[in-house]
Amino acid sequence: MAVERTFSIIKPDATRRNLTGKINARFEENGLRIVAQKRLWMSRQQAEQFYGVHKARPFFNDLCTFMTSGPVVVQVLEGENAVAKNREIMGATNPANAAAGTIRKDFAESIEANSVHGSDSPENAATEIAYFFAGTEIVG
Ligand code: TYD
Repeated sequence: MAVERTFSIIKPDATRRNLTGKINARFEENGLRIVAQKRLWMSRQQAEQFYGVHKARPFFNDLCTFMTSGPVVVQVLEGENAVAKNREIMGATNPANAAAGTIRKDFAESIEANSVHGSDSPENAATEIAYFFAGTEIVG
C-alpha cells in the first residue's frame, strides 16, 4: 500500500467545543500522522472557493456561513491509503448514518455541523493541500 497524503479540516462546531485534541487522537490512533496543521478563520471567499463544487446545491450558502462562523484547523494527514482511511475514520456525511466509533457519529451535531472535512480522492487532496499550505509547511 502506498503512503499518501490527505487534507483535513476540523470544522467550527468542533473547535467551538474544544474537540481538536480528541479528533487528532482518532487520526493518530488509526495510523495517520499530522504532518502539517494550522488554525485559521476562513474568509467567505475562501469558503466559497473551497466548496465551489457545491455552488449550485441548496445547502451551499448555509454551509459557507457555517464554515466561516468560527476558527477551523486545517491539516495534512499522511499514512497508508490516507484518503480512504480518513474517510473511514470520519464516517458518513450525515452523522445519523455514520458507523459506530467514527468521528461524525461521536461528535457531529448535524449534517452541516459535522465536525470534519476529508478529501474524497487523491487528486482533490493534492488540490486542497495546495490551497491552504506551502510545501515548506508540510514536514513528513
Ligand atoms: P459532501 O462533499 O457531500 O460530504 P463530505 O463532507 O462527507 O465529503 O458535502 C460537503 C459538506 O456539505 C458536508 O460535509 C456538509 C455539507 N452538506 C450539507 O450541509 N447538507 C447536505 O445535504 C450535504 C449533502 C452536505
